[in-house]
Amino acid sequence: MAPPSYLLILFLQFLPSVFGQADEFVSIDCGGISNYTDASTGLTWISDIGYIKQGKVVEIEIPNGDRLQYQRRRDFPADGKYCYSLRTTERWRYLVRATFQYGNSNSEEPFPKFQLYLDATRWSTVTVQDALRVYVEEMIIRAPSNSIDVCLCCASTGTPFISTLELRPLNLSMYATDYEDDFFLKVAARVNFGAPTKDAIRYPDDPYDRIWSSDQEKKQNYLVGVAPGTERVSTSKSIDTRTREYPPVKVMQTAVVGTEGSLSYRLDLEGFPGNARAYAFLAEIEDLGRNETRKFTMQQPRKPGYNNIVVNIAENANGSYTLYEPSYMNISLDFVFSFSFVKTRDSTHGPLLNAIEIDKYVLINPKTTSKDKTVLNRLEAMYQGSHTHDGDPCNPISWEWVTCSTNTPPRITKIVLSGRNLKGNIPFELKYMDELTELWLDGNSLSGQIPDLSKLINLTTLHLENNRLTGPLPSYLGDLPNLQELYVQNNSLHGEIAPKLLTQIGKFNYSGNPDLYLKTRHKNLKLILGTTVGAFALFLAMLLGSFLLLYNLRKRTSKSNSLKNMPKPSASYAWGRSEFITEDNLDVSYHIALSDLEEATQNFSKNIGKGSFGPVYYGRMKDGREVAVKIMAEASSHGEHQFLNEVALLSRIHHKHLVPLIGYCKESDQRILVYEYMHNGTLQDHIHGSDSLKYLDWLSRLSTAEDAAKGLEYLHSGCNPSIIHRDVKTSNILLDLNMRAKVSDFGLSRQTDENYTHVSSVACGTVGYLDPEYYGNQQLTEKSDIYSFGVVLLELISGRKPFSVEAYGPEWNIIHWARSLIRKGDVTSIVDPSLAGNFKMESFWRIAEVALLSVEPHGASRPKMQEIVLAIQDAIKIEKGSKKCNYQISSISSTMHLSEMRLPSNDTDIESLESANGCIAPSAR
Ligand SMILES: *[C@@H]1O[C@H](CO)[C@@H](O)[C@H](O)[C@H]1NC(C)=O
Ligand SMILES: *[C@@H]1O[C@H](CO)[C@@H](O)[C@H](O)[C@H]1NC(C)=O
Ligand SMILES: *[C@@H]1O[C@H](CO)[C@@H](O)[C@H](O)[C@H]1NC(C)=O
Ligand SMILES: *[C@@H]1O[C@H](CO)[C@@H](O)[C@H](O)[C@H]1NC(C)=O
Ligand SMILES: *[C@@H]1O[C@H](CO)[C@@H](O)[C@H](O)[C@H]1NC(C)=O
Ligand SMILES: *[C@@H]1O[C@H](CO)[C@@H](O)[C@H](O)[C@H]1NC(C)=O
Ligand SMILES: *[C@@H]1O[C@H](CO)[C@@H](O)[C@H](O)[C@H]1NC(C)=O
Repeated sequence: MAPPSYLLILFLQFLPSVFGQADEFVSIDCGGISNYTDASTGLTWISDIGYIKQGKVVEIEIPNGDRLQYQRRRDFPADGKYCYSLRTTERWRYLVRATFQYGNSNSEEPFPKFQLYLDATRWSTVTVQDALRVYVEEMIIRAPSNSIDVCLCCASTGTPFISTLELRPLNLSMYATDYEDDFFLKVAARVNFGAPTKDAIRYPDDPYDRIWSSDQEKKQNYLVGVAPGTERVSTSKSIDTRTREYPPVKVMQTAVVGTEGSLSYRLDLEGFPGNARAYAFLAEIEDLGRNETRKFTMQQPRKPGYNNIVVNIAENANGSYTLYEPSYMNISLDFVFSFSFVKTRDSTHGPLLNAIEIDKYVLINPKTTSKDKTVLNRLEAMYQGSHTHDGDPCNPISWEWVTCSTNTPPRITKIVLSGRNLKGNIPFELKYMDELTELWLDGNSLSGQIPDLSKLINLTTLHLENNRLTGPLPSYLGDLPNLQELYVQNNSLHGEIAPKLLTQIGKFNYSGNPDLYLKTRHKNLKLILGTTVGAFALFLAMLLGSFLLLYNLRKRTSKSNSLKNMPKPSASYAWGRSEFITEDNLDVSYHIALSDLEEATQNFSKNIGKGSFGPVYYGRMKDGREVAVKIMAEASSHGEHQFLNEVALLSRIHHKHLVPLIGYCKESDQRILVYEYMHNGTLQDHIHGSDSLKYLDWLSRLSTAEDAAKGLEYLHSGCNPSIIHRDVKTSNILLDLNMRAKVSDFGLSRQTDENYTHVSSVACGTVGYLDPEYYGNQQLTEKSDIYSFGVVLLELISGRKPFSVEAYGPEWNIIHWARSLIRKGDVTSIVDPSLAGNFKMESFWRIAEVALLSVEPHGASRPKMQEIVLAIQDAIKIEKGSKKCNYQISSISSTMHLSEMRLPSNDTDIESLESANGCIAPSAR
C-alpha cells in the first residue's frame, strides 16, 4: 500500500501542473453504503466504512433528495470523541470541508449541537437550526504532518453526526500566509457577486472545488444594506485569473457595479470578531472607452493607510479581463462586517466587485507531543480486540486510559491499563515519556524485560504486578527521586534486589518472583571494596589527565607567545615553517615582503580577475601554498594607518565561510592583501559561465547559498563591531576545492571610513545589487547586504544575470522581473532552464519567498541573515526529502507579504532610484 502512494507524491511534486486535479480529491460520503461517481460533477465518492468503525448509519428523508451524499448520515454516541483520519502530504496546503445535513425535521428530539475539531484545534460548533439546510465548514490548512484528524465530540444537545468529508489539495503557494505554522484559516465567507442564479459555483468550474456562494442566496443578514444603483454585469469573455488564488473564470465573469458611485454590503461573519485573511477578486469586465475610467477607494472598513489607496482595476491588473487580487494579510474584523467602495471624483464609472473571500485565523492547538503519542499507539496496538481510540490522546477530550498535563503541547502524565489483556513487551519508547508520573500496567500478560525507565524522573507510581515479566529488577529504580510505589509481584523476575530499592521506595512489593533475592552481607562487602578500588583508579586517572592537560597548555602558551613577539612588519616571512599556519596564531596575519610576492606570482604575471579594489593575481608561495594576491589599486586613498587597522581587523575574522586573509604587504606605495586561493572560482562563473562542466544542480546551489549566508551572518552578528560587506554579489562568493562557498572582499576600507565622510557620501556597490534604500538615504545597515544577497538568491533560482537591458527590457533588473513572476506563481518562467525541473517545488518556493522578502524596498521588512540561513536550511531539508521538518525554522521563510495591498506608486519609485545610480564600482572578482 504505502510505497506506491509515496511514489505518487514524489511524482506530483515534480509535476506541479497536475496537482490540484480531481483525482487527488478525497470525497467521503459519511454513512454512505457504497462507492459511486456523482453524475453532476464526475467526482468519485467513497463510503466512510473504511475510515470509521463507530457510529451508526441513519437514513434520512429529504424532499428533493437528488444528491446521493445527503441520503444518509452517520450518527455517533453523545459521549466520546470520534475521528476520521485523512492522509495528507506534510506541508502541502489543503482545503478540508465537512458538511452536515440533519434531514429529520419531524422527530421529537432537539436538533443536535456539537463540536467539530481538526486535530486538537477547535474548528467549529455545529448548531443545526434547519433540518433541511446543509451546513458547510471549510478550513484551509498547511498539513502539519502526514495525516489530519477530523473529530466530532461534545454534544450539548442531540448527538454528533456528519454527512460528508472532503479533502482538496491546493496548488503551490495558494493561500500561503505569514502565519500558517501557527494558524489554520477558517473560511467565513466566499461570495460570487453578480451571480446569475442562487446556485453556488464549485467543481468542475473551480478546479480546486471551493464553494463560491451566490450573492443571490438567501440567508439571515447575508449581503444586506446594498447601495442603490447596484447592478449586475457579466461577460462571456475569458478572464486571466493566474495570479495567486486562481478563482474560477466563471466567478470572475460576473460582477456588481455601483452605477451611482458606490457599492456597499453588510454580512455576518460566523466566529468573529477575529483576525482574518481577506481577499477581493477584481477584474474589469466592462469595455471602457478611451476617456472613461473606473477608479475607487475603500471607505469601509476604516483601516489607516488603506482607505486612500485608489484602485484602478485595469491598471492594477495591467489590462482588462485580468484578475487583480488585493488582499489583507491580517485584518481584524467584527461579527457584522460592512464594507463599501466609493468612486473617486475624477472617475467616470462606479466601483466594480467580482468576488470576495474572508478567512479567519484559527490558532492551532498543538497536538500531544509526538514521543508520547508513539508510546500510546504502541500500547494501543497491544490491546486485544477492544475498540481503538481516535485522534489526539489529550484534546479535545483525552482517551479514557490516559491523563494529560495542561502544557502546550500536552504531555501524558498517567497511563492506566490495568487488566486490559495486553500482550507482548513493554514498549521501550516509554523512556521518552519524561513527564510520566504514574504507570499502571498490572494484571496483563506482558512479557520480556522491564525496559529502561531511568529517565522518568517524575515517576511516583509503577505497577507491573501480575504479568509475565522476566529479567532483572533494575537497580536505578532506587534512584528515581519521586518513586514511592513499586509493585512487581507475581512475575518471573530474577537476580538480586538492590538494597536501595528497599530503603528508597516507600511501598515496594516483589513477592511472587521466585528467583528474586536480596543481597547478602558478603556480597555487599565485595561491592564496597570494588567501589573503593574503582574510585582510587579513577582518581589516579584524573590526576594523570590534569597533568597532561597542564603540560599541553603550557606548551601552547609558550608557542603563541613566541609568535606574538615576532617583529612583524619588517621581518620577512618564512613560509616554509608550517607552524605559522596553525590554529594558535590565526589571529595574526603576516607581513610578506614584496620580493616574496613577486616571486610567488612570477612578477604578477597570472591575472585571475578583478576585485572590488583592483586586480587579483595567482601565486604559489615557497611552501607550495596557492594564494590570491590582491593589489589595492586605489592605494593612495588608503592612509597607512587606516590600511594597517583594516589588516588588523581582517586578520581577526576567521570563519569557515569567509575567505581567509593570509598576509599583507605594505611597501612604498604598494598595498597588497594575500588571500587563500579558491580553486573553483566564483559563483558567478558557475551560474552564468558558458562552461557546462561548471553547472550546479539545485542542491549545490542551496548549499552554496547556505555557506555564503553563514559567512555573511558571521560578519553581521559574529563580529564586533559588526561588519557590513557592502558588495555582496555572485562574483564575491568563491568556491574552494570541495565546492564549499566562502565570501570574499569583506571588511575593506568602506566600513571604517567614518572619518572620511566625504568619501562615504557616495553609495558604493555594484549595479543590480545595490540596495535602493541605502542609495536613497545613505544609511548603511546590514539590511543592504540582505538586499544584495536577495539578488544573489534570485540569480541562483533563475540562472539569469542581475541586470540586463536586453533580458528585462525597460525594468532592466532581475528584481522587478522575478517579483512579478513569483507573485503570479509562474514557476516555469522564472526557474533556471538548466535545472530542468530537477528540484522540489516546495523547496523552490522557500527560496523564492525569502529572496523576495530580502529585496523588499524597505530594509525593515527584510529578514535578518540568520533568518535567511534558516530558510535555506529548510529548503535543503525539503529538497533532501527529510521527513522531519522543523516548523520553527520554516516560520521565518513563510513570512510572505506578496499579497499585501499593492501600493501603486511603490515599485516604480524604487526602480528609478536604482537606475539613477552614479557610483558603479568595478564588478568582478
Ligand atoms: C498549478 O500551478 C502551476 C504553476 O502556476 C500551473 O501551471 C498549473 O496549471 C496549476 N495547476 C492547476 C491544476 O491549476
Ligand atoms: C470504496 O473505495 C475505497 C477506496 O477506493 C475502498 O477501499 C473500498 O473498499 C470501496 N468500498 C466499496 C463498498 O466498494
Ligand atoms: C494579526 O494582527 C494582530 C494585531 O496586530 C496580531 O495580534 C496577530 O498576532 C496577527 N496575526 C494573526 C494571525 O492574528
Ligand atoms: C468621451 O469622448 C467623447 C468624444 O471623444 C465625448 O463625446 C464624450 O462625452 C466623452 N465622455 C466622457 C465621459 O468624457
Ligand atoms: C502589461 O501589458 C502590456 C500589454 O498588454 C504588456 O506588453 C506588458 O508586458 C505588461 N507588463 C507587465 C509588467 O506585465
Ligand atoms: C517533572 O519534573 C520536572 C523537574 O523536576 C518538573 O519541572 C515538572 O513540573 C514535573 N512534571 C510533572 C507533571 O510533575
Ligand atoms: C499473586 O497471584 C496469586 C495467584 O494468582 C494471587 O492470589 C495473589 O493475590 C497475587 N498477589 C498479588 C499481590 O497480587
